[in-house]
Amino acid sequence: MTGKGLFITGTDTGVGKTIVSAGILTLLRSRGINACYFKPALTGAERINGELFPEDTELVKAIAGLDEKNENITPFIFERAASPHFAARLENRPIKKNSLLQAFQKLQEKYEFILAEGCGGIAVPLNDEGYLIADFIRDSGLPCIITARAGLGTLNHTLLTVEFARQFGIAVKGIILNGFTGTDIEKDNLNSIEKLTNLPILGTIPWMGENFSIRKNKKAFMELFVKNWLEDLC
Ligand SMILES: Nc1ncnc2c1ncn2[C@@H]1O[C@H](COP(=O)(O)OP(=O)(O)O)[C@@H](O)[C@H]1O
Ligand SMILES: [Mg+2]
Repeated sequence: MTGKGLFITGTDTGVGKTIVSAGILTLLRSRGINACYFKPALTGAERINGELFPEDTELVKAIAGLDEKNENITPFIFERAASPHFAARLENRPIKKNSLLQAFQKLQEKYEFILAEGCGGIAVPLNDEGYLIADFIRDSGLPCIITARAGLGTLNHTLLTVEFARQFGIAVKGIILNGFTGTDIEKDNLNSIEKLTNLPILGTIPWMGENFSIRKNKKAFMELFVKNWLEDLC
């Protein structure tokens, strides 16, 4: 598949993929680009009044001002907070490769740009046939950006993720380091990752404190995105 877009993957769950996705999508849409979010599967959805609430999807839609049905942009939503392959097995609704690709293709026909977010890291299985997030990225034809933690432990996780993406033939545009506080370790991580992967660090996002909420601090958060490095990604 071809078409404009980006896939935001990460070195782990909880590394900042959703806030990066929300930031990039908001920026694209504020520039008049008809861009849409896509998340192949979401687990750990809260059940409210009998309906599952996909937090990442709702959050990104609210921040970026996107009006699209959840079922179109997140075709598989599960209640159990587990790897998608396991949540799908437990809830008896297997994730089919073709359903994912069809949903994705439909969005590509309707929108100029698709900003997709993975679930967890790049090697997360989506079903019991061993179809991984990396397989979906490759099949979607999108280049990816890796969101990684800034501090201790990130060298190993980031190098493994880059190597895995390369094995699947996925184009990696670069890496975003999240939760940057400016320590010597973080600065060395930045330089070491660039040197060891031959990829650019596209930007750093500062640590914004325990109580950070993108919903409450959207303006300040977006100022981080507007001034910088995303120009040539789109
Ligand atoms: N730089 C940061 N400073 C403070 N809190 C952050 C930062 N980045 C992410 N968070 C918080 O960490 C949590 C996980 O981030 P999220 O974007 O949902 O990660 P992922 O999508 O990779 O699971 C969220 O509550 C988010 O608000
Ligand atoms: Mg997320």
